[in-house]
Amino acid sequence: MVKWVVKKGKFYFPSKEMKKIAFVKNEKIYKEAGENPIKFWEKLAREGISWFKTWKKTYVEKPPYFKWFVGGKLNASYNCLDRHINTWRKNKIAIIWEPDIPNEKNRILSYYDLYREVNRFANALRELGVKKGDRVTIYLPMIPEIQISMLACARIGAIHSVVFSAFSPNALKTRILDAESKVLITADGYYRRGKLINLKQSADEAIEGTSIEKVVVVKRASNEINMKEGRDFWYDEIIKKSKNYCKPEIIDSEDVLFILYSSGTTGKPKAIVHTTGGYLVQAYWTAKWNFDLHDEDIFWCTSDLGWITGHTYVCYGPFLNGTTILMHESVPDYPQPDRWWEIIEKYGVTIFYTAPTAIRMLMKYGDEWVKKHDLSSLRILGSVGEPVDKDAWLWYFNVVGNGRCPIIDTWWQTETGGNLINALPGIGPFIPTVAGRAFPGTRASVLDEKGKPVKEGERGSLVLLPPFSPGMLRGLWKDEKRYIETYWSKYGNRIYYTGDGALIENGFIKITGREDDVLKVAGHRLANAEIEDAINRHKDVIESAVIGMPDPIKGEVPLALVILRKDVTPNEQLTNELIKLVEKEIGPIARPAKIIYVDDLPKTRSGKIMRRILKRLIKKEDLGDLSTLANPECVEKLKEILVSQNL
Ligand code: WT7
Repeated sequence: MVKWVVKKGKFYFPSKEMKKIAFVKNEKIYKEAGENPIKFWEKLAREGISWFKTWKKTYVEKPPYFKWFVGGKLNASYNCLDRHINTWRKNKIAIIWEPDIPNEKNRILSYYDLYREVNRFANALRELGVKKGDRVTIYLPMIPEIQISMLACARIGAIHSVVFSAFSPNALKTRILDAESKVLITADGYYRRGKLINLKQSADEAIEGTSIEKVVVVKRASNEINMKEGRDFWYDEIIKKSKNYCKPEIIDSEDVLFILYSSGTTGKPKAIVHTTGGYLVQAYWTAKWNFDLHDEDIFWCTSDLGWITGHTYVCYGPFLNGTTILMHESVPDYPQPDRWWEIIEKYGVTIFYTAPTAIRMLMKYGDEWVKKHDLSSLRILGSVGEPVDKDAWLWYFNVVGNGRCPIIDTWWQTETGGNLINALPGIGPFIPTVAGRAFPGTRASVLDEKGKPVKEGERGSLVLLPPFSPGMLRGLWKDEKRYIETYWSKYGNRIYYTGDGALIENGFIKITGREDDVLKVAGHRLANAEIEDAINRHKDVIESAVIGMPDPIKGEVPLALVILRKDVTPNEQLTNELIKLVEKEIGPIARPAKIIYVDDLPKTRSGKIMRRILKRLIKKEDLGDLSTLANPECVEKLKEILVSQNL
């Protein structure tokens, strides 16, 4: 079995074998790229992407706005498909799809299959009246039609907005209304743990009273659904009637490729805007270099397409590279805790990319489930979504990777479009709990409150510095004010504030977690305020505060502290009603793990709830100065309540 890493001193580094094949192996790349990042990205843009017309200006910055490859023309779907089908990759596998239920048949699509489907569906969307710049909402489970839909939109210049299929009808509705989408693409149903989920029913509920004119329904589960004449169309039927080729629309580098909703610090989710040229350049190169994607590889990124990780590493990044990807419809532990290991063995997956929450969950099931399988095909392991703790890192490294594979801990955000901080497989070092350094040609720093870089070992805020990498967000959909407030206020309009805390250890960046009011529940990003808003809708609730409570598997889970109307006595039914409300407004992922009823919450004199104090209370940290509170006396009482609840 090939060893892809060796230990040198305290850390792991790539082995000779890894160095031999890795695309990037010389440390100098950081320095060289750093000397002239714009020139560096320009070269990458030329080499990685096919342009119909080259750009006039490589980088233009008007803080806090910036553009890349200005005047360049291209098409995302052309880059992901057309340029492969004139090569031997025409018959290469693009997607291997594994269903929820193991004995159901898998699906295998070649690049040519994918190309055909995308062309036909693009024509079908045009027939339905979709034009360049129109928004199309995609509410699909993990089936290949989700990438087909995204690429079909990209082909005709429509802006896709993918909404995670486990989001509730209400959450979908809010996102449709905000984007003013004309068309919704969904499915009849899908399977999860052997159970049928009726997705179309949720979609029907969501589109009432929205701008949706047409609905395309992919047949996945053949469950009984309602089809509304004139509004709803079966995907299969419209595809059958469509022509084989759809000429790709000529797209400007700075035209919007997609919007993707993500949670911020207020109740309303924001749509992060990504444009075409820069995003694709970054998707191509970060996929290629961070995962060292070679033609022989099978790349499995376990993210749902509903998140940015799915967009960039289960669609655009690998397809731009002509990579074979694996996608799985469902969860890691159904029907047994070795489902994922079984899949890796079955197909000989070489690069595996998942989230710490999944690693911790699988770790809990025990090593036997892993050891039952031959995982010798693995070469690189990746992690994303939240800080990976040392135990999980070591288990992933030693048990899953058998001590042979580097772990690439990739830090990034929906906003950054692609991985930005990590170690490259051919360079290293691979250090537990440390992400690494900024991708070549990008700059990150850790600053103190005054904006000065922190010293080694000190905590600060993680920021990104200009020139901002090509794949970064270009704004928030229809919300300029929030864009400026969220990212460009803390340190001014030329320093991008990430919302994360970090420190420098041995010269490398270690991410410590969110420092704003954003939760990371099993890697999913949720706003404290979003959950509070849902709870506050209940007629008996006066006010609530939601904070993250440490959880051994999910990292953190929502804990809700709720103030009820004076005449109401809390009971189990009320608790259930509040939980149902959250599920209805957002989805099961946001369900509070615990609800505690309290009389008072710590507030500032202006009446703002101080979640920071609550967070410290739950983590049993020093509470700091309470004198700014309007009601410091409530803190002691809360402490007692938490103790009585074993928290
Ligand atoms: C937030 C972004 C883009 C990846 C999927 C999540 C946290 C992400 C890491 C990592 C520590 C990480 C940060 C970040 N995060 N990757 N490797 N180490 N923290 O995207 O939902 O936009 O969340 O996820 O807190 O700000 P997202």
